Amino acid sequence: MKAVVYREPFSVQVEDVPDARLEDPTDVVVKITTSCICGSDLHMYEGRTGAEPGIVFGHENMGIVEEVGSGVARIRKGDRVVMPFNVACGFCKNCLAGKTGFCLTVNKGFAGGAYGYVSMGPYRGGQADYLRVPFADFNCLKLPPGQEHEDDFALLADIFPTGYHAAELAQVSPGETVCVFGAGPVGLMAAYSSMLRGASEVFVVDRQPDRLRLVEQMGATPIDYTKSDAVTQIKNHTGGEGTDKGIDAVGYQATAPEGEEQPAIVLNSLIDAVRPTGALGVVGLYVPSDPGGPSEAARNGQLLFNTGRFFEKGLRMGTGQANVKAYNRQLRDMIIAGRATPSFVVSHRVPLEQAPDAYRRFDNREEGWTKVLLTPGGERAAS
Ligand SMILES: NC(=O)c1ccc[n+]([C@@H]2O[C@H](COP(=O)([O-])OP(=O)(O)OC[C@H]3O[C@@H](n4cnc5c(N)ncnc54)[C@H](O)[C@@H]3O)[C@@H](O)[C@H]2O)c1
Ligand SMILES: [Zn+2]
Ligand SMILES: [Zn+2]
Repeated sequence: MKAVVYREPFSVQVEDVPDARLEDPTDVVVKITTSCICGSDLHMYEGRTGAEPGIVFGHENMGIVEEVGSGVARIRKGDRVVMPFNVACGFCKNCLAGKTGFCLTVNKGFAGGAYGYVSMGPYRGGQADYLRVPFADFNCLKLPPGQEHEDDFALLADIFPTGYHAAELAQVSPGETVCVFGAGPVGLMAAYSSMLRGASEVFVVDRQPDRLRLVEQMGATPIDYTKSDAVTQIKNHTGGEGTDKGIDAVGYQATAPEGEEQPAIVLNSLIDAVRPTGALGVVGLYVPSDPGGPSEAARNGQLLFNTGRFFEKGLRMGTGQANVKAYNRQLRDMIIAGRATPSFVVSHRVPLEQAPDAYRRFDNREEGWTKVLLTPGGERAAS
């Protein structure tokens, strides 16, 4: 089968790889209909993680169940399913508590597993014709048959639940004001989720005009942080007070207005932009090892975080991988009911073979390249 394989910084290739097969009785194999490219993939693509060449990328996967292990009870051949990017067991103490982003079973010696991601276990990604899904009864979310809502449902693998998780970590409540740093797909979904939760006003900070236009179209307030200081702009909009809540949807590759990377700039901006006693939801990625970090400390994941101001303001902060399974069923049902249409962020759908070009353009943040969905179409060899 064909798959997108990481070769070296700024290079992926579509290659023939061994077919995805059942390896355990609790597995299914899914024929992928859609697999999205994520901003998280770009950290690996740019050589800014410990990712080794050879990884098959793709953690945002949906498709049709092709083959079912003998120990699977609920999922049937032909089911249309979407999988959380987290691989989880369903029975460890973190899974039982709903914290499936921190499963203790699937990635020995580590809390949390994912498809096609550095340090997240041996699971190959789904930017491929087929995907092996472990603990399939737990990890597959069933979808209505057919092709309806394909783009909306594909976003249930990661960015819609992750955006919702950011709002949950920040405890966004009706009537509150929220600032979101980053108008990439995750930031847009965090803003959208905040609005679904009843926020009165949502500010979204970025520098890219095309993304800021989407912010405006969705009814939030765009803030261009290259025009003037983002925190000052947010304070001016909130009577000098700052917002009730704040969300980081950028992570460690954040850039200063002048363009150079400053890994803690978003965290420290949030500390300034959110009012005393507020809460921060941090889903933008921070890593313990960044080969391209701008300082020795940053290369070891140690950032200059303004702890003093954070404490003084009595702020709270939640971090980490999103527990997609905690929200994906509810968000699916909002899509089916017509109460949520997250696919407004989808800009491109391209055949799997064109993945190298799509990665390049998405990584260059070319105008209009907001969210790219890949469509594999190949078959496995007959077994
Ligand atoms: N926690 C999770 O479970 C989870 C899941 C998915 C993605 N992520 C992470 O979320 C982050 C965003 O993902 P994405 O797909 O939207 O990525 P993206 O790279 O498309 O978007 C990031 C955006 O941040 C903007 N930005 C950079 N510096 C900024 C600054 N100082 N202030 C404001 N905006 C700034 C960029 O212009 C860009 O538009 C990534 O770090 C990704 O790894 C985390
Ligand atoms: Zn993702
Ligand atoms: Zn578990």
